[in-house]
Amino acid sequence: MFNNETELLQAALRYEQGHCRRTQHILKVYALAKLLGEQENLSLEAQQILRAAAILHDIAIKYCKERYNGDASQERQKLEAPGLVRRFLLQANYSPALIPQITELVEKHHDYSSPRNQTLQILMEADLIINCYETCPDSKKIAEIEAVFETPFGKELLALYIQGAKN
Ligand SMILES: [Fe+2]
Repeated sequence: MFNNETELLQAALRYEQGHCRRTQHILKVYALAKLLGEQENLSLEAQQILRAAAILHDIAIKYCKERYNGDASQERQKLEAPGLVRRFLLQANYSPALIPQITELVEKHHDYSSPRNQTLQILMEADLIINCYETCPDSKKIAEIEAVFETPFGKELLALYIQGAKN
């Protein structure tokens, strides 16, 4: 018997139809968000919300590319994400009570200048670290990324990335 998180992850992977970058990105951000959520001692409910948001955080990219002739801008994603997030969560039997918080995390995970709770902070850090490994940003961009980090383990992981990038 699968729990709802397993079902959600399976559904997201099926939806991406083997797209190389997005499939790997989902798995990596999910794993790292889980680790950081545990490390930061989030409540069990917050950890569940965080992991679901990690699975779904970029779910609107494929939909927007198909619907808007390749345009998956942040604005388009914010417009389409709530409906997609709701559909995926309900199909995986998540409690409707969790949908608003998970949707908010998905919508705001690139809003680096807005106030944020610890759960959003962790999702941002997980996504940024994985993005660094995927895109190898230049030193100016890394300095901007470093300014976003707050959690001790997130900072440590980013420092490890920077160290590794020099080798
Ligand atoms: Fe992402």
